[in-house]
Amino acid sequence: MNTKYLYINTIGCQMNVYDSEQMVRRLKPLGYEISPTIEAADLIIVNTCAIREKAEQKAFSFLGRLTALKRKKPELIICVGGCVAQQEGRLILERVPNVDLVFGTHALNRLPEHILKISLKRCRISDVEMTQEIVEFSPDVNPVVNGNITRFVTIMRGCDNYCTYCVVPYVRGPEISRRPESVIGEIRELVKSGVQEVTLLGQNVNSYGIKERLCSFPELLKLVNEIEGLFRIRFTTSHPKDLSEDLISSFAGLEKLCSHIHLPVQSGSNSVLKRMNRKYTGELYLEKIDRLRKISPDIAITSDVIVGFPGETEDDFKATLDLVKEVEFDSLFTFGYSDRKNAPAARFSDKVPDDKKKERLRELLELQEYYTVKKNRALVGSTELILVDGFSKKQGTEDGQKGFAGVHWTGRTSTNKIVNFVDENFLSGDSALIGKKIDVKIQKAFSHSLLGKPVDLNRLPDRVTGEESYAA
Ligand code: SAH
Ligand code: SF4
Ligand code: F3S
Repeated sequence: MNTKYLYINTIGCQMNVYDSEQMVRRLKPLGYEISPTIEAADLIIVNTCAIREKAEQKAFSFLGRLTALKRKKPELIICVGGCVAQQEGRLILERVPNVDLVFGTHALNRLPEHILKISLKRCRISDVEMTQEIVEFSPDVNPVVNGNITRFVTIMRGCDNYCTYCVVPYVRGPEISRRPESVIGEIRELVKSGVQEVTLLGQNVNSYGIKERLCSFPELLKLVNEIEGLFRIRFTTSHPKDLSEDLISSFAGLEKLCSHIHLPVQSGSNSVLKRMNRKYTGELYLEKIDRLRKISPDIAITSDVIVGFPGETEDDFKATLDLVKEVEFDSLFTFGYSDRKNAPAARFSDKVPDDKKKERLRELLELQEYYTVKKNRALVGSTELILVDGFSKKQGTEDGQKGFAGVHWTGRTSTNKIVNFVDENFLSGDSALIGKKIDVKIQKAFSHSLLGKPVDLNRLPDRVTGEESYAA
């Protein structure tokens, strides 16, 4: 079979990263390999995200840029998958003449047959049918690992929570959990291929297995914890309303479970939370944080906040700032509210003007920056165990390693903080340290990373230059 080249542009959340990997896996039997460049590709897929207006625009501007390529190479197949595909369906075929296939979030298994049909008949297809079944993976297709040591594993799809701002339940469908045997089997395969850390994915992992009467999420974590050769487990996302005592206890009981939880709060105002349909109050959220910190004092806590939800007053926003001050998050993802098709909040009155949203976002970011840096500075002087996962991308930027000849490595702590270090003598060579667990003494703290020196590799340099840093 001739090798054909496949190029995938993934926009959006970690679930899309996982889905793109599944696409690669499914297209392998058809002879497709990852393309070295976009120009060399025979098949281009854009895996889209509909969560905010900006994400949606990204997909269409990428498609616009493909016009020249398609003109040069008319046999090129262009596909749109993911959440925007599910939302817009056939309209994409009308709007973008170069697109050959639109396939929704439930059409992953049907991707190969559509591609075959298009290559033979040059027809245009839209498949946005939703099924009630979970997409499972045939065990005979090897996982695509490409030397990575950390991987995402989707354990459930869809969402039943219907937060009023959110498009996910409409584009991903109802919540469905994968069978535990299937999840465990997949992780075992990944571990065999060299993976050491997995992040279990679901829109609300706390409700894993409940509807289907499978095991509970804490029980699933226990099973994953028993997998030999696996070093670390992470998961995302938890909905605060369903964060159970059993799950909180897992942080103390399971040695492979990392000391980090992403627990999106969205707002600190109870009236906003009510209109968002989040089903918890700021007080309940703070209680859960207390419980987490009692069980696991060093746990890192991160969150998502939406600013400028319809009807958000100055007092509502102040309540969010107060909650952020009270919790002292390790880091925060902040979003300006944007209307989404189908989501009920799009029809709410009292929209917050854009400049107000921007102003509030700025204020919130500034406040959070203070806590992020404070938390990172507190680590200076401590020794952290990191799993080295690659080369530092930010060479010579934030962490002031500029001018350092050597191999620049990066890894993460159990609390999910990025730690960079340099092997100035090139002793560690090509990819020799990837996958190694190394104790690193933290020397400097920045807002998005830490800089350290391995304690057991004393051949590495002591000297650290830096522009502005937060070293103690
Ligand atoms: N299932 C996860 C969130 C998935 S979406 C949860 O319940 O927490 C990721 C984040 O995008 C959300 O936490 C929210 O902060 C943000 N988001 C979702 N819809 C949005 C919208 N319409 N405008 C702005 N931000 C939004
Ligand atoms: Fe969206 Fe809410 Fe579901 Fe998260 S829990 S995906 S925010 S509807
Ligand atoms: Fe985006 Fe769909 Fe994920 S809307 S955030 S890609 S579930």
